[in-house]
Amino acid sequence: MPSDRGIKMRRAERRPNPDPALLAARLLAWYDRHRRRMPWRALPGERPDPYKVWLSEIMLQQTTVAAVGPYFERFLARFPMVEALAAAKLDDVLGLWQGLGYYARARNLHRAAEVVARRYGGRFPDTAAALRALPGVGEYTAAAIAAIAFDRREAAVDGNVERVMARLHALEAALPAAKPALRELARSLVPEARAGDFAQALMDLGATVCTPRAPRCLLCPWADACAARTRGIAEELPRKAPQPARPLRHGVAFVLLDRTGAVLLRRRPENGLLGGMMEVPSTAWRAKAPAAREAAAAAPAPAAWRALPGHVRHGFTHFELLLAVWGAQVEKRPRAEGVWCGSDVLAAQALPTLMKKVLRHGLAQLARKSGPPIKTGRRSSTGVRGG
Ligand code: ADE
Repeated sequence: MPSDRGIKMRRAERRPNPDPALLAARLLAWYDRHRRRMPWRALPGERPDPYKVWLSEIMLQQTTVAAVGPYFERFLARFPMVEALAAAKLDDVLGLWQGLGYYARARNLHRAAEVVARRYGGRFPDTAAALRALPGVGEYTAAAIAAIAFDRREAAVDGNVERVMARLHALEAALPAAKPALRELARSLVPEARAGDFAQALMDLGATVCTPRAPRCLLCPWADACAARTRGIAEELPRKAPQPARPLRHGVAFVLLDRTGAVLLRRRPENGLLGGMMEVPSTAWRAKAPAAREAAAAAPAPAAWRALPGHVRHGFTHFELLLAVWGAQVEKRPRAEGVWCGSDVLAAQALPTLMKKVLRHGLAQLARKSGPPIKTGRRSSTGVRGG
């Protein structure tokens, strides 16, 4: 016979503290002590500025808090109010955005500023539905702005919040099918008061405590209510459905180096994969690897190209990419479409991971002077053999 205490324990294990009001109160108390300081966040007791909230949320789409900080400050200094941004030239906005990547965001930012300035007289709409209608504002961003700027009872649910909810409730259903259930769980916890602080507290909890690996449960204000922790499966959640096998695509990337160590990069088209980001020039990425002649025709300039040993592999959501890398070093910069970037380019925040991998690989192999020369049929006017 189990003891009374044993039975109570097991009940508690199955149903950890579910009271939403208590959970919210505990998270808010934790946030009051441990909130992250960010330039766009209102201080306790201060009224949030919807313009700052909106600007930061657009910048934070697909970009880290650390990378956004200096851009946010520069934008605010140059365009202190939405009217100033609306009146700016698009080129000035794009110039200031340079380096943040995903340039469609900057175009939408400018268009949305015009809408707010003209249609709304410079005051941001204060519901998620109206915010959602602004260019560049999706469901998550609309909920985040409505909650943070206007204390609307909206749940801003991103991957971090999904993880926190899956663990708190030990929801074992796999993503992405579990998304609607996780969104509902998050909605059910939003308190009557301080919905904006609650949204930001959840973001902070997911980013600093309830991390994907090695969650710091001892520091968590929800530790004793967390069903996954009670069952010892916190780190396993959220479960993810196995990825369907992704098709493999092939291509050749071209690392062209000048004598100072600068490399030739170009900008990708605005729309589509890695839209508006810088890239190492390459052939198209296709199901079949290009023949040497086809690759040579796609090279950005005539040079003494070498087929560098090894490949670069990279996973995108819908396909896997296997790139061969050709490298060359030139004495004199040839005429070529693109921009020459100094050796600090690898440290640039906005260079996509794939391109960093290609550059690292290409530069290391070029330094070893490895790889057979390519016979392209194109004359090399400026190339130096062996790099
Ligand atoms: N990610 C997206 N929006 C955020 C915010 N307001 N604070 C911290 N991280 C975020």
